Amino acid sequence: MAEAGALLRCGELVAFPTETVYGLGADATNGTAVARIFEAKGRPRFNPLIVHVASIEAAAALAELSPADLRLAEAFWPGPLTLVLPRRADSGLSDIVSAGLDTVAVRVPRHPIARALLGAAGSPVAAPSANRSGHVSATTAAHVAADLDGQVGMILDGGSCPQGLESTIIRVDGREVVLLRPGAIPADEIARVADAALQRRTDEASPRAPGQLASHYAPRAQVRLNITEPAPGAALLAFGPSVPRRDVGFVFNLSPRGDLAEAAANLFTALRVLDQSGVGRIDVMPIPSHGLGEAINDRLRRAAAPR
Ligand code: TXA
Ligand code: MG
Repeated sequence: MAEAGALLRCGELVAFPTETVYGLGADATNGTAVARIFEAKGRPRFNPLIVHVASIEAAAALAELSPADLRLAEAFWPGPLTLVLPRRADSGLSDIVSAGLDTVAVRVPRHPIARALLGAAGSPVAAPSANRSGHVSATTAAHVAADLDGQVGMILDGGSCPQGLESTIIRVDGREVVLLRPGAIPADEIARVADAALQRRTDEASPRAPGQLASHYAPRAQVRLNITEPAPGAALLAFGPSVPRRDVGFVFNLSPRGDLAEAAANLFTALRVLDQSGVGRIDVMPIPSHGLGEAINDRLRRAAAPR
């Protein structure tokens, strides 16, 4: 951990586990280090990064939290909530972290290894998911190595990420609470704490979330959704106890007992495993859209979007 902190302070990249997915971290105050993240991922420069800090106080040094933001932060931090906040002029953050926007996305992770790394770094850590840009997110150290081999100073191996889906991204805008990305905290839990109905972002090109591109999380194979009769030769991404019988072909059941949290934790591994089987097509069974199902279906729709 001391070595990881030293690498970050020298402007190198360190990949680390969080409760959601692995992050590809750099010192968020060092522009050269942050630029390395974009280079390593092949990430478009207009897509801003999430800054990770250890506490609400550390977040308040970077950005303005309204009373409504504070209420969400107190309820969900540390944990998989990202708040998009107005940047403070004296934040010390590199400009490219927020891709020139006047806001910055901030989150306080819960994973003990992420927290230890923040302590060792002694600075805010900018970290997108640790995958090639546009590819399936990484939920194990092996996934990180497969995508970013040779481009990262160190990978901290914390095993599988417990939640497996990225953080929920929220922007409080006056009296509106906007869901910019569904994620590991179901929208209804956030609505309950915010005491407001969440606005869903409908415009794909919205400048508030420049990174929410239609095609994302894409495996090599073609992905088809809501399939009840899988094609011969296609791999099957299944959910629940009643899976169509198959004599041949690859099947990965996200949760045989139909549990959405278990399905979320398995999603990105499943997409990688089925993709590696070499099939041309992955057929996905219907998955309920309530609770965590909203984020699961969001990722699957992006995986299936035309490229
Ligand atoms: O769970 C997570 O959030 C993981 C872990 C590593 O913390 N991180 C993650 O980062 O998913 P990334 O870069 O894959 O996704 C961050 C998303 C992008 O879609 C980006 O466009 C959006 O956050 N974002 C970042 N800054 C923003 C801003 N100022 N305004 C709107 N959206 C922003
Ligand atoms: Mg990502």
